[in-house]
Amino acid sequence: MKILITGALGQIGSELTTALKKIYGEKNIVTSDVREGEIAEEFLPYEQLNVLDKSRLSEIVKKHEIKIIYHLAAILSAAGEKNPNLCWDVNMTGLHNVLEVARELKVKQIICPSSIAVFGPETPCSNTPQETVILPKTMYGLTKAAGELLCEYYVAKFGIDVRGIRYPGLISYKTLPGGGTTDYAVEIFYEALKKKFYTCFLKAETTLPMMYMPDAIRGTIQLAETDFAKLKHHSNFNFSGISFSCSQLADEIKKHIPDFQISYQPDFRQAIADSWPRSIDDSAARNEWGWKVEYDLPRMVEDMLKNLSSKKLY
Ligand SMILES: NC(=O)c1ccc[n+]([C@@H]2O[C@H](COP(=O)([O-])OP(=O)(O)OC[C@H]3O[C@@H](n4cnc5c(N)ncnc54)[C@H](O)[C@@H]3O)[C@@H](O)[C@H]2O)c1
Repeated sequence: MKILITGALGQIGSELTTALKKIYGEKNIVTSDVREGEIAEEFLPYEQLNVLDKSRLSEIVKKHEIKIIYHLAAILSAAGEKNPNLCWDVNMTGLHNVLEVARELKVKQIICPSSIAVFGPETPCSNTPQETVILPKTMYGLTKAAGELLCEYYVAKFGIDVRGIRYPGLISYKTLPGGGTTDYAVEIFYEALKKKFYTCFLKAETTLPMMYMPDAIRGTIQLAETDFAKLKHHSNFNFSGISFSCSQLADEIKKHIPDFQISYQPDFRQAIADSWPRSIDDSAARNEWGWKVEYDLPRMVEDMLKNLSSKKLY
Protein backbone atom coordinates (compact mmCIF):
# COMPACT_ATOMS: atom_id res chain seq x y z
CA MET A 1 0.00 0.00 0.00
CA LYS A 2 1.91 3.08 -1.23
CA ILE A 3 1.51 6.43 0.49
CA LEU A 4 2.11 9.93 -0.91
CA ILE A 5 2.74 12.87 1.43
CA THR A 6 2.26 16.39 0.05
CA GLY A 7 4.01 19.26 1.85
CA ALA A 8 6.28 16.59 3.33
CA LEU A 9 9.19 18.94 4.11
CA GLY A 10 7.13 20.95 6.59
CA GLN A 11 6.79 20.71 10.35
CA ILE A 12 4.36 17.77 10.44
CA GLY A 13 5.48 16.08 7.22
CA SER A 14 9.12 15.76 8.23
CA GLU A 15 8.17 13.76 11.33
CA LEU A 16 5.27 11.89 9.75
CA THR A 17 7.59 10.68 6.96
CA THR A 18 9.89 8.98 9.49
CA ALA A 19 6.96 7.49 11.42
CA LEU A 20 5.19 6.14 8.32
CA LYS A 21 8.44 4.71 6.90
CA LYS A 22 8.96 2.79 10.16
CA ILE A 23 5.48 1.27 9.94
CA TYR A 24 5.00 0.69 6.20
CA GLY A 25 8.59 0.47 4.90
CA GLU A 26 11.00 3.00 3.39
CA LYS A 27 10.06 2.39 -0.25
CA ASN A 28 6.31 2.66 0.33
CA ILE A 29 6.39 6.30 1.40
CA VAL A 30 6.74 8.81 -1.44
CA THR A 31 7.30 12.36 -0.23
CA SER A 32 6.60 15.54 -2.19
CA ASP A 33 6.78 19.28 -1.67
CA VAL A 34 6.85 22.45 -3.75
CA ARG A 35 10.48 22.97 -2.72
CA GLU A 36 13.25 22.29 -5.22
CA GLY A 37 16.91 21.55 -4.72
CA GLU A 38 18.75 18.97 -2.73
CA ILE A 39 16.55 16.75 -0.62
CA ALA A 40 17.80 14.90 2.49
CA GLU A 41 18.04 11.15 2.10
CA GLU A 42 15.42 10.51 4.77
CA PHE A 43 12.78 11.96 2.39
CA LEU A 44 13.61 9.77 -0.62
CA PRO A 45 11.83 8.76 -2.82
CA TYR A 46 10.87 12.42 -3.41
CA GLU A 47 8.82 14.08 -6.15
CA GLN A 48 8.77 17.85 -6.57
CA LEU A 49 5.07 18.79 -6.63
CA ASN A 50 3.12 22.03 -6.51
CA VAL A 51 -0.35 20.89 -5.43
CA LEU A 52 -1.83 23.51 -7.76
CA ASP A 53 -0.57 21.36 -10.66
CA LYS A 54 -3.25 18.67 -10.91
CA SER A 55 -1.77 16.85 -13.90
CA ARG A 56 1.61 16.48 -12.15
CA LEU A 57 -0.21 15.13 -9.08
CA SER A 58 -2.06 12.59 -11.28
CA GLU A 59 1.23 11.59 -12.90
CA ILE A 60 2.86 10.94 -9.50
CA VAL A 61 -0.14 8.98 -8.18
CA LYS A 62 -0.13 6.80 -11.33
CA LYS A 63 3.65 6.37 -11.41
CA HIS A 64 3.88 5.15 -7.80
CA GLU A 65 0.45 3.45 -7.67
CA ILE A 66 -0.46 5.58 -4.66
CA LYS A 67 -3.36 4.34 -2.52
CA ILE A 68 -3.20 6.77 0.42
CA ILE A 69 -2.43 10.52 0.40
CA TYR A 70 -1.48 12.54 3.48
CA HIS A 71 -2.21 16.01 2.16
CA LEU A 72 -0.13 18.39 4.28
CA ALA A 73 0.72 21.13 1.75
CA ALA A 74 -0.80 24.37 3.01
CA ILE A 75 -0.20 28.02 3.83
CA LEU A 76 -0.61 28.52 7.58
CA SER A 77 -2.34 31.24 9.62
CA ALA A 78 0.23 34.03 9.94
CA ALA A 79 1.67 33.45 6.45
CA GLY A 80 -1.92 33.34 5.14
CA GLU A 81 -2.74 36.77 6.57
CA LYS A 82 0.31 38.16 4.79
CA ASN A 83 -0.70 36.54 1.50
CA PRO A 84 -4.43 35.69 1.55
CA ASN A 85 -4.68 34.98 -2.19
CA LEU A 86 -1.92 32.39 -2.08
CA CYS A 87 -3.49 30.92 1.07
CA TRP A 88 -6.84 30.52 -0.72
CA ASP A 89 -5.23 29.00 -3.82
CA VAL A 90 -2.98 26.48 -2.08
CA ASN A 91 -5.43 25.48 0.66
CA MET A 92 -8.58 25.31 -1.49
CA THR A 93 -7.48 24.53 -5.06
CA GLY A 94 -4.70 22.27 -3.75
CA LEU A 95 -7.18 20.29 -1.65
CA HIS A 96 -9.72 20.13 -4.49
CA ASN A 97 -7.01 18.79 -6.81
CA VAL A 98 -6.09 16.09 -4.30
CA LEU A 99 -9.73 15.06 -3.82
CA GLU A 100 -10.39 15.02 -7.58
CA VAL A 101 -7.28 12.96 -8.33
CA ALA A 102 -8.35 10.57 -5.53
CA ARG A 103 -11.79 10.22 -7.12
CA GLU A 104 -10.46 9.79 -10.67
CA LEU A 105 -7.65 7.37 -9.82
CA LYS A 106 -9.44 5.50 -7.02
CA VAL A 107 -7.07 6.45 -4.21
CA LYS A 108 -8.35 4.61 -1.13
CA GLN A 109 -7.78 7.16 1.63
CA ILE A 110 -7.01 10.87 2.07
CA ILE A 111 -5.79 12.33 5.34
CA CYS A 112 -6.25 16.09 5.34
CA PRO A 113 -5.46 18.24 8.38
CA SER A 114 -7.82 20.88 9.64
CA SER A 115 -7.04 23.29 12.47
CA ILE A 116 -8.38 25.04 15.57
CA ALA A 117 -8.31 28.07 13.23
CA VAL A 118 -11.78 27.03 12.01
CA PHE A 119 -13.09 28.54 15.26
CA GLY A 120 -13.70 32.24 15.75
CA PRO A 121 -14.50 34.64 18.58
CA GLU A 122 -18.17 33.57 18.61
CA THR A 123 -17.17 29.97 19.42
CA PRO A 124 -17.23 28.98 23.13
CA CYS A 125 -13.53 29.33 23.98
CA SER A 126 -13.23 26.88 26.88
CA ASN A 127 -13.61 23.18 26.21
CA THR A 128 -14.76 24.06 22.67
CA PRO A 129 -17.33 21.45 21.59
CA GLN A 130 -17.00 19.25 18.51
CA GLU A 131 -20.18 20.69 17.01
CA THR A 132 -20.17 24.44 17.50
CA VAL A 133 -20.14 27.85 15.85
CA ILE A 134 -17.61 27.91 12.99
CA LEU A 135 -17.01 31.55 12.06
CA PRO A 136 -13.26 31.91 11.41
CA LYS A 137 -11.86 35.40 10.89
CA THR A 138 -8.59 34.55 9.09
CA MET A 139 -8.17 33.47 5.47
CA TYR A 140 -6.40 30.35 6.78
CA GLY A 141 -9.31 29.56 9.11
CA LEU A 142 -11.90 29.97 6.43
CA THR A 143 -9.99 27.73 4.01
CA LYS A 144 -9.80 25.10 6.75
CA ALA A 145 -13.54 25.38 7.51
CA ALA A 146 -14.44 25.19 3.80
CA GLY A 147 -11.88 22.39 3.41
CA GLU A 148 -13.62 20.33 6.11
CA LEU A 149 -16.91 20.73 4.26
CA LEU A 150 -15.34 19.85 0.91
CA CYS A 151 -13.81 16.69 2.40
CA GLU A 152 -17.16 15.75 3.93
CA TYR A 153 -18.79 16.27 0.50
CA TYR A 154 -16.39 13.77 -1.08
CA VAL A 155 -17.16 11.24 1.67
CA ALA A 156 -20.93 11.62 1.22
CA LYS A 157 -21.10 12.08 -2.55
CA PHE A 158 -18.32 9.79 -3.81
CA GLY A 159 -17.78 7.42 -0.88
CA ILE A 160 -14.10 8.38 -0.60
CA ASP A 161 -12.46 7.74 2.79
CA VAL A 162 -11.34 11.25 3.81
CA ARG A 163 -10.27 11.95 7.41
CA GLY A 164 -8.85 14.90 9.26
CA ILE A 165 -7.98 16.37 12.63
CA ARG A 166 -8.35 19.94 13.83
CA TYR A 167 -4.76 20.23 15.05
CA PRO A 168 -3.92 22.65 17.82
CA GLY A 169 -0.53 24.44 17.76
CA LEU A 170 2.15 21.80 17.31
CA ILE A 171 5.48 21.82 19.11
CA SER A 172 8.47 19.92 17.77
CA TYR A 173 12.25 20.00 17.87
CA LYS A 174 12.94 18.50 14.44
CA THR A 175 11.62 21.12 11.99
CA LEU A 176 10.79 24.76 12.60
CA PRO A 177 7.12 25.70 12.18
CA GLY A 178 6.03 27.27 8.90
CA GLY A 179 4.32 30.58 9.71
CA GLY A 180 1.58 29.88 12.24
CA THR A 181 0.30 31.86 15.22
CA THR A 182 1.54 29.25 17.72
CA ASP A 183 5.13 29.35 16.38
CA TYR A 184 6.19 31.18 19.56
CA ALA A 185 5.93 27.89 21.48
CA VAL A 186 8.79 26.47 19.40
CA GLU A 187 10.88 29.66 18.95
CA ILE A 188 10.97 30.16 22.73
CA PHE A 189 12.99 26.95 23.22
CA TYR A 190 15.61 27.93 20.60
CA GLU A 191 16.02 31.41 22.09
CA ALA A 192 16.07 30.11 25.68
CA LEU A 193 18.94 27.78 24.81
CA LYS A 194 20.83 30.21 22.54
CA LYS A 195 20.36 33.58 24.32
CA LYS A 196 18.46 32.87 27.55
CA PHE A 197 16.05 35.56 26.37
CA TYR A 198 12.93 35.58 24.20
CA THR A 199 10.62 38.35 22.99
CA CYS A 200 7.20 36.79 22.60
CA PHE A 201 4.82 38.06 19.89
CA LEU A 202 1.77 37.18 22.02
CA LYS A 203 0.73 38.53 25.45
CA ALA A 204 1.83 36.69 28.61
CA GLU A 205 -1.68 35.49 29.47
CA THR A 206 -2.59 34.24 25.96
CA THR A 207 -3.68 30.64 26.40
CA LEU A 208 -3.96 28.36 23.39
CA PRO A 209 -4.47 24.64 22.77
CA MET A 210 -1.15 22.98 21.90
CA MET A 211 0.26 19.50 21.42
CA TYR A 212 3.67 17.88 21.38
CA MET A 213 4.50 16.43 17.95
CA PRO A 214 4.94 12.78 19.07
CA ASP A 215 1.33 12.84 20.29
CA ALA A 216 0.14 14.50 17.05
CA ILE A 217 1.91 11.92 14.85
CA ARG A 218 0.66 9.00 16.95
CA GLY A 219 -2.91 10.37 16.86
CA THR A 220 -2.82 11.01 13.12
CA ILE A 221 -1.75 7.44 12.32
CA GLN A 222 -4.23 6.09 14.87
CA LEU A 223 -7.07 7.93 13.11
CA ALA A 224 -5.86 6.75 9.68
CA GLU A 225 -5.81 3.13 10.83
CA THR A 226 -9.25 3.14 12.49
CA ASP A 227 -11.97 1.09 10.79
CA PHE A 228 -13.94 3.60 8.68
CA ALA A 229 -17.26 2.11 9.85
CA LYS A 230 -16.49 3.21 13.43
CA LEU A 231 -16.30 6.88 12.47
CA LYS A 232 -19.28 9.20 12.78
CA HIS A 233 -17.12 12.24 12.02
CA HIS A 234 -14.51 12.28 9.26
CA SER A 235 -12.69 15.48 8.37
CA ASN A 236 -13.14 17.60 11.48
CA PHE A 237 -12.08 15.83 14.68
CA ASN A 238 -11.41 18.08 17.66
CA PHE A 239 -8.03 17.01 19.05
CA SER A 240 -6.79 18.08 22.45
CA GLY A 241 -3.30 18.01 23.90
CA ILE A 242 -2.20 20.62 26.45
CA SER A 243 -3.40 24.17 26.99
CA PHE A 244 -1.04 26.72 28.50
CA SER A 245 -0.35 30.44 28.43
CA CYS A 246 2.90 31.99 27.16
CA SER A 247 3.96 32.79 30.74
CA GLN A 248 3.19 29.26 31.95
CA LEU A 249 5.45 27.89 29.22
CA ALA A 250 8.18 30.40 30.13
CA ASP A 251 7.90 29.40 33.83
CA GLU A 252 8.26 25.74 32.95
CA ILE A 253 11.38 26.49 30.86
CA LYS A 254 12.81 28.51 33.80
CA LYS A 255 12.72 25.36 35.93
CA HIS A 256 15.47 24.02 33.60
CA ILE A 257 17.15 27.33 32.63
CA PRO A 258 16.77 29.51 35.78
CA ASP A 259 18.24 32.69 34.20
CA PHE A 260 15.90 32.55 31.17
CA GLN A 261 13.96 35.80 30.70
CA ILE A 262 10.98 36.67 28.54
CA SER A 263 9.42 39.94 27.38
CA TYR A 264 6.18 40.45 25.47
CA GLN A 265 5.67 42.53 22.32
CA PRO A 266 2.36 41.45 20.78
CA ASP A 267 2.06 41.89 16.99
CA PHE A 268 -0.67 41.14 14.40
CA ARG A 269 -0.72 37.52 15.53
CA GLN A 270 -2.30 38.54 18.87
CA ALA A 271 -5.64 39.23 17.14
CA ILE A 272 -5.51 35.79 15.50
CA ALA A 273 -4.73 34.11 18.85
CA ASP A 274 -7.53 36.06 20.55
CA SER A 275 -10.04 34.62 18.07
CA TRP A 276 -9.09 31.01 18.89
CA PRO A 277 -10.18 28.71 21.74
CA ARG A 278 -8.23 28.14 24.96
CA SER A 279 -9.06 24.47 25.33
CA ILE A 280 -10.76 21.79 23.24
CA ASP A 281 -13.29 19.05 23.96
CA ASP A 282 -12.07 16.04 22.00
CA SER A 283 -14.58 13.46 23.24
CA ALA A 284 -15.53 12.51 19.65
CA ALA A 285 -11.88 11.55 18.92
CA ARG A 286 -11.68 9.68 22.23
CA ASN A 287 -14.94 7.81 21.65
CA GLU A 288 -14.65 7.08 17.93
CA TRP A 289 -10.98 6.13 17.64
CA GLY A 290 -9.62 5.89 21.17
CA TRP A 291 -7.51 9.07 21.23
CA LYS A 292 -5.57 9.74 24.46
CA VAL A 293 -2.86 12.38 24.93
CA GLU A 294 0.44 11.35 26.58
CA TYR A 295 2.57 14.50 26.96
CA ASP A 296 1.70 17.12 29.59
CA LEU A 297 3.51 20.49 29.84
CA PRO A 298 6.44 19.43 32.14
CA ARG A 299 7.12 16.26 30.12
CA MET A 300 6.99 18.14 26.80
CA VAL A 301 9.34 20.92 28.01
CA GLU A 302 11.84 18.42 29.40
CA ASP A 303 11.85 16.44 26.14
CA MET A 304 12.15 19.57 23.94
CA LEU A 305 15.11 20.90 25.93
CA LYS A 306 16.83 17.51 26.01
CA ASN A 307 16.54 17.07 22.23
CA LEU A 308 17.37 20.67 21.28
CA SER A 309 20.40 20.71 23.61
CA SER A 310 21.97 17.93 21.57
CA LYS A 311 21.24 19.74 18.27
CA LYS A 312 23.31 22.43 16.56
CA LEU A 313 21.12 25.52 16.90
CA TYR A 314 21.50 28.36 14.42
N1 LIG B 1 1.89 22.93 12.59
C1 LIG B 1 0.78 23.29 13.23
O1 LIG B 1 0.83 23.80 14.35
C2 LIG B 1 -0.56 23.04 12.59
C3 LIG B 1 -1.70 23.33 13.33
C4 LIG B 1 -2.95 23.13 12.75
C5 LIG B 1 -3.04 22.60 11.47
N2 LIG B 1 -1.91 22.31 10.77
C6 LIG B 1 -2.08 21.80 9.40
O2 LIG B 1 -1.24 20.69 9.17
C7 LIG B 1 -0.79 20.69 7.80
C8 LIG B 1 0.72 20.68 7.75
O3 LIG B 1 1.17 21.80 8.48
P1 LIG B 1 2.72 22.05 8.81
O4 LIG B 1 2.77 22.65 10.16
O5 LIG B 1 3.53 20.86 8.49
O6 LIG B 1 2.98 23.23 7.77
P2 LIG B 1 4.38 23.77 7.20
O7 LIG B 1 4.16 25.17 6.77
O8 LIG B 1 5.48 23.47 8.15
O9 LIG B 1 4.56 22.84 5.93
C9 LIG B 1 3.76 22.96 4.79
C10 LIG B 1 4.56 22.47 3.61
O10 LIG B 1 3.77 22.69 2.44
C11 LIG B 1 4.63 23.10 1.42
N3 LIG B 1 3.86 23.85 0.41
C12 LIG B 1 3.45 25.12 0.43
N4 LIG B 1 2.81 25.43 -0.71
C13 LIG B 1 2.80 24.30 -1.47
C14 LIG B 1 2.30 23.98 -2.75
N5 LIG B 1 1.67 24.90 -3.50
N6 LIG B 1 2.47 22.73 -3.20
C15 LIG B 1 3.11 21.79 -2.46
N7 LIG B 1 3.64 22.04 -1.25
C16 LIG B 1 3.48 23.29 -0.76
C17 LIG B 1 5.70 23.96 2.08
O11 LIG B 1 6.87 24.02 1.30
C18 LIG B 1 5.88 23.23 3.41
O12 LIG B 1 6.96 22.34 3.37
C19 LIG B 1 -1.42 21.94 7.16
O13 LIG B 1 -2.62 21.57 6.53
C20 LIG B 1 -1.72 22.81 8.34
O14 LIG B 1 -2.79 23.67 8.08
C21 LIG B 1 -0.68 22.53 11.30
